[in-house]
Amino acid sequence: MYDKDGFLLFVSVGWIIGTIFTHEGRRKVFVVFGNPIAHSRSPQIHQAFAAQERRKLIYERCLVPFDEFAKTARDFFVTGGIGANVTVPFKHEAFELADILTARAQAAKAVNTLFWRDGHLLGDNTDGIGLVRAIEELMSFSLHDKHILLLGAGGAACGVIQPLLQQQPASLTIANRSVDKAQALAQAHQVNWCKLNQIEPHYDVIINATSGSLHGQELPVPSAVLARAQLVFDMMYARKLTPFLLQAQAAGCSQLADGLGMLVAQAAASYELWHGFRPDIRSVTSQIRVEMEQA
Ligand code: ATR
Repeated sequence: MYDKDGFLLFVSVGWIIGTIFTHEGRRKVFVVFGNPIAHSRSPQIHQAFAAQERRKLIYERCLVPFDEFAKTARDFFVTGGIGANVTVPFKHEAFELADILTARAQAAKAVNTLFWRDGHLLGDNTDGIGLVRAIEELMSFSLHDKHILLLGAGGAACGVIQPLLQQQPASLTIANRSVDKAQALAQAHQVNWCKLNQIEPHYDVIINATSGSLHGQELPVPSAVLARAQLVFDMMYARKLTPFLLQAQAAGCSQLADGLGMLVAQAAASYELWHGFRPDIRSVTSQIRVEMEQA
């Protein structure tokens, strides 16, 4: 039997509960998807940001089976998830999954940030802006008018090209082991390219976006190229200097940075998108560095 009053009461209670759970008092649910994921520092970083504005936050790691990204992500958002960071190897699948893409996600052809907003899944890419903020803000180093050399032509390199170009460098050159990939990426973005072991020594900034350091490998970059650079940046990070930064140090380059600041800065851009609050990245980078060294 249809009970109009009972139905209205049910709708009202549902509306109130819904209101409570969609306003500021709600403990919002966020996640980082990847495989592997146990090593991820994103939960500590996001909790440190939340502490800056005294926000209560649920942010978890989620190990996703290799063939189940789309299903896992959909389940998460259908059951109330609000935002997700996406890491290796799912950034391209996240790009395919999103309903709407930001300009920087389109340029990167990869998504590291998903946001459930107004009934749509928004895909963004904050890696490039993270790199730029790590260099310009944390190192007080301007990329404007500099000759930049980007090592690598895979997903990590592709994700940072447009934000680097937005800083109006004097030039941007992609160097890669496989020439065809360097050429294709350079053509797509209308920048220069060269072979990894045939680099001329005239770059001010060198950014390593290869996965060489991940595997503990040095790169065949001539010492003269590293010695000439004002800044050498490795997108990888570790407790000690990465093999590539050790190479740069041995060549005589004095300004070295690993990717921890970039990790924190890309997380800050995701956080700002989700919560509308721009966290301080310097203090959090120092905090995570200390935690990493003590672990
Ligand atoms: P990611 O998404 O991390 O960029 P990727 O798409 O597999 O991963 O790309 C890895 C990049 O690192 C490529 O540019 C690769 O060079 P190739 O295109 O020649 O394979 C580069 N790379 C990995 N190991 C390297 C090494 N030992 N020396 C030089 N380049 C290396």
